[in-house]
Amino acid sequence: MDKIVIEGGKRLNGTIAVNGAKNAALPLQCAVLLADGVCTFRRVPRLSDIETMNRLLQSLGCDIAGEQTLTIDPRGVNEGPLEAAYDLVKTMRASVTVMGPLLARYGRAKVSLPGGCAIGARPIDQHLRGLEALGADIELSHGYVHAQARRLRGAQFVFDTITVGGTQNVMMAAALAKGSTRLENVAREPEVQELALVLNKMGAKIDGAGTPVIEIEGVDHLRGVEHVILPDRIEAGTFMVAAAITRGNVLLEHAPLDHMHAVVTKLEEAGVECRAEGHGIRVIGPDRLTPIDVSTQPHPGFPTDMQAQIMVLATVAHGQSTIIETIFENRFMHVPELCRMGAQIHVNANTAVVRGPTHYGGTTVMATDLRASASLVLAGLVARGKTEIRRVYHLDRGYEAIDVRLRELGAEIQRYHGARG
Ligand code: EPZ
Repeated sequence: MDKIVIEGGKRLNGTIAVNGAKNAALPLQCAVLLADGVCTFRRVPRLSDIETMNRLLQSLGCDIAGEQTLTIDPRGVNEGPLEAAYDLVKTMRASVTVMGPLLARYGRAKVSLPGGCAIGARPIDQHLRGLEALGADIELSHGYVHAQARRLRGAQFVFDTITVGGTQNVMMAAALAKGSTRLENVAREPEVQELALVLNKMGAKIDGAGTPVIEIEGVDHLRGVEHVILPDRIEAGTFMVAAAITRGNVLLEHAPLDHMHAVVTKLEEAGVECRAEGHGIRVIGPDRLTPIDVSTQPHPGFPTDMQAQIMVLATVAHGQSTIIETIFENRFMHVPELCRMGAQIHVNANTAVVRGPTHYGGTTVMATDLRASASLVLAGLVARGKTEIRRVYHLDRGYEAIDVRLRELGAEIQRYHGARG
């Protein structure tokens, strides 16, 4: 397994381009299953999760070509059992978002239950309740969801809990259902809005994405589409924290400022200068960071996917910060590793009290999940001496060539392939 070694203490300076968003690309890959024709997406990030989704689509009968410009032809689907197998779904939970499209377009789907992951149980009860409301027959047996529907029909449905994937799955199913659907208590994330935008380009009739209520008028067919994936607000936020904690001066090209108000507000509260420049954001880190209080919330609140990263900023701020994780029940896996590097973080249930400033000392640490591993990279950037991060395959799920891109900003960071992990 690969490892990353960082010699901390370097200020980051320069310009970095923000990639297309992983969490926009993944549901769009699933949306192709609704189409009668070929779909092409541009600015697709080169990430292992995208590759995993491509493997799933190929197993369903799609033809796939390209990487950053990704072309998917769904016209070979409908031959096989239309199954999302356990080994793929276990690797990447977003695979369950093929269920809605397969049901709506082909009337059947067999999808492995995802099971839990490092950050929580992550059930899919809301996905299933929403699809049942649209008329699907759902049966659970031997760890799989067996779903069938002659023709989905429009319905009113209120989500018990705000779920990004659940909103996307049910919205895609409703796009080809017969009649009107009204979804309430939906997720408002930019990636939900992007999916609705692309579905409408394909011929769907969806209103209200980005608000708490989405209205969908079902249509009979959806055509192929070409689309440029929107920039990744979480990758951008991660690099903004890197600039902030290293007292750097970095321009993030293509950073989606409109989708990052909660993150920018918190960074500015901490004393970081963030200002729009050209087609991006310039970030200037202060000599002394101010403590902050953060509670993760559904969009437009502070994103849970930035919690581990903002915690590193809190550890180097002068004073006490409080970080509350309200979305997932086990998303503090980064805390023990940060504490091994010298951080003072006390966790009680879903609340972390952070005391700074921490003068990190480099050591060997282990990545556990995608955003936790990003926080270890951030801590390594400001640690005295060498930090060695193992199991960096977690990083590869959501950050393309992060070592190369941080090195271009002046970080002393190197990736070693095939190291003992
Ligand atoms: C998406 O996951 C993102 N992944 C996650 O990003 C992100 O953390 C999450 O949304 C929240 O913003 C992708 O978009 C591919 P949820 P998703 O359904 O859709 C509970 C990353 O780091 N819930 O909004 O799986 C669930 O347990 C990843 O890029 C139910 O109870 O998240 C969780 O506590 C990690 N029942 C909460 O809702 C359900 O049926 C939010 O989950 C569905 C969800």
